[in-house]
Amino acid sequence: MKAHIQQLLEQAIVSLQSQNILPEDIQPRIVIDRTKDKSHGDFANNLALMLAKPAKQNPRALAELITQHLPASDLVSKTEIAGPGFINFFINPNFLEKQIDNAFSDTRLNVELTATPQTVVIDYSSPNLAKEMHVGHLRSTIIGDSVTRTLEFQGHRVIRQNHVGDWGTQFGMLLAYMEELRAKGEEINKNLANLEVFYRAAKGRFDESETFANRARDLVVALQSGDQQCLTLWKEFKDISIAHCQAAYERLGVSLTVDDVRGESAYNKDLAVVVSDLDAKGLLKESQGAKCVFLDSFKNKDGEPLPVIIQKKDGGFLYATSDLAAMRYRQNTLGADRVLYFVDARQGLHFQQVFEVARIAGFVKPETSLEHMPFGTVMGEDGKPFKTRAGSTPKLSDLLTEAEERAYELVKEKNQDMSEGELRHIASVVGISSVKYADLSKNRTSDYTFSFNSMLSFEGNTAPYLLYAYTRVSSIFNKAGIEIDSITAPVSLTEEKEIDLANKLIQFNEIISQVAKQGMPHVLCSYLFELAGLFSSFYEACPILSAETESQKLSRLKLAALTAKTLKQGLSLLGINTLERM
Ligand code: ARG
Repeated sequence: MKAHIQQLLEQAIVSLQSQNILPEDIQPRIVIDRTKDKSHGDFANNLALMLAKPAKQNPRALAELITQHLPASDLVSKTEIAGPGFINFFINPNFLEKQIDNAFSDTRLNVELTATPQTVVIDYSSPNLAKEMHVGHLRSTIIGDSVTRTLEFQGHRVIRQNHVGDWGTQFGMLLAYMEELRAKGEEINKNLANLEVFYRAAKGRFDESETFANRARDLVVALQSGDQQCLTLWKEFKDISIAHCQAAYERLGVSLTVDDVRGESAYNKDLAVVVSDLDAKGLLKESQGAKCVFLDSFKNKDGEPLPVIIQKKDGGFLYATSDLAAMRYRQNTLGADRVLYFVDARQGLHFQQVFEVARIAGFVKPETSLEHMPFGTVMGEDGKPFKTRAGSTPKLSDLLTEAEERAYELVKEKNQDMSEGELRHIASVVGISSVKYADLSKNRTSDYTFSFNSMLSFEGNTAPYLLYAYTRVSSIFNKAGIEIDSITAPVSLTEEKEIDLANKLIQFNEIISQVAKQGMPHVLCSYLFELAGLFSSFYEACPILSAETESQKLSRLKLAALTAKTLKQGLSLLGINTLERM
């Protein structure tokens, strides 16, 4: 409610500024206070007193002007000017009550279906298949999946694209190693069980043996020219590596399937076409033997235009070339209106450049939106990019196992009498969702510190806190022997804490649109955290099962029920399952 009134006041200031009644350069900090005496309304604000001096106005007269310029709001029943120039707001509980009743009886909780459904292509996870997935893939995978779910919930047609790195020079080395193992009669499958070890062994051979390195180089050439034997070997490697990713997605509850994989290799045949099309449009220039596009908008520090290399001197293609081919596929074949790339912030320049090349080459329509959704780095508690004690990048599967183990200890301590099976189940949900939530709840664009202790804490903006809050709300219904959906009585809001909770509940729709638009799930996390907090205050101040009258009890139960539904729906958009007990 405070945020709503703040917005109204901000808009009034803007319109007063545009009429030169207020100076352009003021940006007052608007503070909304609750009134102590309800006869003065519900909220009060001293903006007019603060602005009187810079505006060279009498505070009461200015308060008058501000109230005249407040946009209409269904939430505010009236405003009054009090004392030297305070503005008091009276909120309209009937409006809130109606909204709550509607949301409660709507399976979508009043979250609008979009009136303009789009085809949204989402490029996320996209690991390089040569190696095992590690902590660096967490952010793209988890944030991308949450935004995918959110857009689908709004009614958009979402096409997932897992643009895996399955092509390029590293594969020569891996294939050479596979050959060598096979010649020794070893089983390749077994060796590939641990991709990390396999990769290191292959790299070791590459570094120590000239003959091996040459064989690796030959195999890259053979692979790229479509040699059947090479392709078979490559496919074998790729399938195993994808199966590893798939296992990680299943464990994480990420909605990607093998059908969503469309890696760099899928564009192999288009790469030469990209080059000839750019050439036909007169966009290619040669620079030191390489074919490049020079963009006016990207200059180095000497003011010279930066090249985007499309084809190397030796004829090889680059990461940018396959991204251009992929953009064309997404536009022409998939029919994208919007393409979102959940990729590390360090690739920012790459995306700015390929987006621009695609635009000037006409590979995408002008109205198609291309959006890099960058994210920051996962840091260790030492303030450096997260590493294991041995100094390597932690494997995703090891991190998840550790989270589950730690969660098991915590849950066991709280529930001595629970069966081992149930403990394991709860520990797995709590462990995995803690890792996910810790990532989702941080602003996407900043770095964040990976800390098992803070992500598994039952206090603060964490998965355990929210999961526990959900079990608390739903336990009220178990205790009362009432089904959450069975309440039909209307809600009636009289207490301050009821109004605060109701007001938060009705913001769900707004939050969902914000996540969908900006690709920022942390906004939803903060919302759910605040909602859980407001529920606690409500629960403390307003007895539910021992309410004074039956209608008050039902009204409060309804608020609790809508809180439970909103938490469950919100968590599910984050890709997190709720528990009934923990
Ligand atoms: N495989 C790349 C990496 O691990 C990410 C690919 C992102 N998607 C894209 N279309 N470039 O860095």
